Amino acid sequence: MARQRIINGSPDEDPDDESPRPPLGPKVDFRPDDEKHDDELRPQRLEDIVGQRKVVERLRIMLDAAKKRQEPLGHVLFDGPPGLGKTTFATVIPKELGTDFQIASAPALTAPKDVLSYLTNASYGSVLFIDEIHRLPPAVEEFIYPAMEDFRVDISLGEGINARTINMPLKRFTMIGATTRSGMLTAPLRDRFVNRLHVDFYDEPDLAEIVQRNSRKLRTEIEPSASAEIARRSRGTPRKANNLLYWCRDYADSKAQGRITDDVARRALEMIEVDHVGLDELDRRYLMILINVFCGGPAGVQAIGHSMNCPADTLEDEIEPFLLRVGFLQRTPRGRIVTAAALAHLGITAPPDKPAQGSLF
Ligand SMILES: Nc1ncnc2c1ncn2[C@@H]1O[C@H](COP(=O)(O)OP(=O)(O)OP(=O)(O)O)[C@@H](O)[C@H]1O
Ligand SMILES: [Mg+2]
Repeated sequence: MARQRIINGSPDEDPDDESPRPPLGPKVDFRPDDEKHDDELRPQRLEDIVGQRKVVERLRIMLDAAKKRQEPLGHVLFDGPPGLGKTTFATVIPKELGTDFQIASAPALTAPKDVLSYLTNASYGSVLFIDEIHRLPPAVEEFIYPAMEDFRVDISLGEGINARTINMPLKRFTMIGATTRSGMLTAPLRDRFVNRLHVDFYDEPDLAEIVQRNSRKLRTEIEPSASAEIARRSRGTPRKANNLLYWCRDYADSKAQGRITDDVARRALEMIEVDHVGLDELDRRYLMILINVFCGGPAGVQAIGHSMNCPADTLEDEIEPFLLRVGFLQRTPRGRIVTAAALAHLGITAPPDKPAQGSLF
C-alpha cells in the first residue's frame, strides 16, 4: 500500500524563522492514518470482524456456497474509503477457505510480465489479491482480462512476421481487488468481478467495540466511556480508532499508570488536536485554506492541493470523504464549497453582507 497521507511541509512555517522553537509541548507528530499498526490488530477470521454486517453476510453465503460446491470463489471487488477493512476482508477470505494467498499492489505491476508470475503461481482455488486495482496500467489490465474470464493468458512472442501468440492455461483462481476509487475502474474490469462489495464508514458502537477488543489484545485497561470517546473521534474509520488507541495507551503509560480512563482519553486526544467530531490538523487546514484562500469556494481540488502542498489524490481519498459525510463540504461541478456547518464548527462567522453559502466572502 503505497498510499499514505503525504504532507510536504506546512505553509504556516517560515523556513527563515530563526526564533527559538517552542519546547516539545502539545505538538506531537501523530498521523491518525498511519498504516504501521495494521497487521498487529487485523482480524484473522470472519467472526473477528466487527460491523459491516451486510458485507459479512454476503461473504458468508459466498464462502459457504464455494465450499459446498468445492469450487473456487468468484472474483471479488472491495471498494470504499481508506482504513475501513478492504485488505482485512481480502486476507480473511483465503483463511476461511484454507487456500493459498498472494498479494500484489497495482502500482508495482507496471508491465504484463510483472503480473505473469502471480498468475502462473496461482494454484486451483487460491486467492490473488491486487490492492489499489484502479492504478493498473491499461496494458496490464488488458492482459488480465482473459486470465480472469477464461483462466488463460495470451503471450506474444517475437516481432514482425515472426510474431506469434501462445495461449497459456492457468489454474482456476480467485482474484480479489481493492480500490478506494471504484469510479476510476474501467467498465470491462469492473464487470469481470462477479461480486462487488462496498465497505462503508462504521457507526460509533462498532468502533467502540473494535477499541475494546483491541485494547484487550494490547493488554491495556480501558474504561467503556473512553472507548466511546475514541470511537466518536475516529471519523467512522477503524484504522483511525486503532491509531488513537495506540496514542492513548502511550499517554496513559506515561502519565496515568497505564489505565485509559475517560479523562485520560480526552486529554490525550486534545493534545494531538483531534477534536470532538474527529477533525484533525490536516482537515482543519483544508477547510481554512478553502475559506481564507478561496473565499469558501467553489474551488478545484487541484488548486486546493497546490495551496496545501498536498497531492489532490490524498485530499480526495482521505480528507474529503469525511468532510462530505459530516456535511462540512459540498462537491459541486464548479468545485468544492465549504458549508455553514463547517464555519459554525470552526467558530467562524461570515461577514453579514456576504452570507455563508456559495462563495462566502
Ligand atoms: N471490521 C473490522 N473489525 C475490526 N477491525 C477492523 C475492521 N476493519 C478494519 N479494521 C482494522 O483497521 C485496520 C485497517 O484496515 P484495512 O487495512 O483493512 O483497511 P483498507 O480498507 O485496506 O485501507 P486502505 O484503503 O488504506 O488500504 C486493520 O488493520 C484492522 O485492524
Ligand atoms: Mg488496504
